[in-house]
Amino acid sequence: MQDAHKRFVAKVPSNIAFIKYWGKKDSQQQLPANDSLSMTLSTATTTTTACPINGGTHEVYFRGQRLFESDAFAKKIYSHLKTLASELSVKQALRIETQNSYPDSCGIASSASGFGALTLAATAAWTNSADLNELESKGFYLSKLARLARLGSGSACRSLFGGFVHWQTSDSADFQKVEQCWPDSHWDLADIVVLVNTQKKAISSSQGHQSAWSSPLFRQRLAVIPERVRDIKKAIASRDLDSLGRIIETEATEMHAIMLSSRPASKYYGEATSQFLAWVRAQRYEGFLPAYFTIDAGPNVHLICEQERVEAVATKIAANFPEFELLIDRVGAGPSLAICNEQTF
Ligand code: DP6
Repeated sequence: MQDAHKRFVAKVPSNIAFIKYWGKKDSQQQLPANDSLSMTLSTATTTTTACPINGGTHEVYFRGQRLFESDAFAKKIYSHLKTLASELSVKQALRIETQNSYPDSCGIASSASGFGALTLAATAAWTNSADLNELESKGFYLSKLARLARLGSGSACRSLFGGFVHWQTSDSADFQKVEQCWPDSHWDLADIVVLVNTQKKAISSSQGHQSAWSSPLFRQRLAVIPERVRDIKKAIASRDLDSLGRIIETEATEMHAIMLSSRPASKYYGEATSQFLAWVRAQRYEGFLPAYFTIDAGPNVHLICEQERVEAVATKIAANFPEFELLIDRVGAGPSLAICNEQTF
């Protein structure tokens, strides 16, 4: 039995994929169809606290509000807690409290930071580990935590590392792996998130992953991914924004072409996003906007640029699209874990 007053606090950032994870080889084992590569963010984070409690059932709170297993939103959280407990062979119930640093309804990826933070906090509580070093000394290396986080949500495994992160697929769950290619200090890139539409998406990523294989474009995409991963690594290694930008725009538009040509088809963005993307391209072509876009499974746009250009780029967007809120983020150092002995509930 753990000390019932210890609270294990994990703070895990979101990440933005440059090479997209879209489609799975095996959804049971959460094996991605292809390699992906992402940049871990700094400001967009989930903070999750895990505290051992008496009694046999977990309790989950989101922004102070209790969520039950029957709530659609909480189902995956409870299910991941069960998976983790079984992987760690533990029975102790936990009280989980979680919140995001970014507006909950804004439609930017929350599953990566959310499942990353849940995995880290719960593992710390069950192993009574005060920080990342102690977790590591008990055999819970970041790579092992990433493997566990992946079981909750694939993209979460990349959030366990800071900087630029490569998730390599394999035909076997034992050989897929996640590794940091460069730390955040390598290249100070910014991510300006342009909130075009903040409504909850109608089709979840998990549903979209399933139908990807039905797109006639999907197998062609899989064939070019290894070369694209090599090229983007070269671009990041040499801090070449134009080469990086060309690749991330191809990636995002190709993923959305696959979504649109899958059965059932999924359409994640509409006219407002298309118009904004056309404006970005035109402005850049004229030499006025040193930024490139990427988009996940939603209508909001991530504009990637070098840190010293953020203010100029953001000012230009605000002047032309005052209706869109902007969240300004940058490459970040990765997760943190701390212990707190107070009882606040
Ligand atoms: C478009 O990680 O949300 O953001 O594994 O089913 O939880 P599940 O999917 P998820 O998929 C993310 C898809 C993406 C691209 C990416 O982050 O690589």
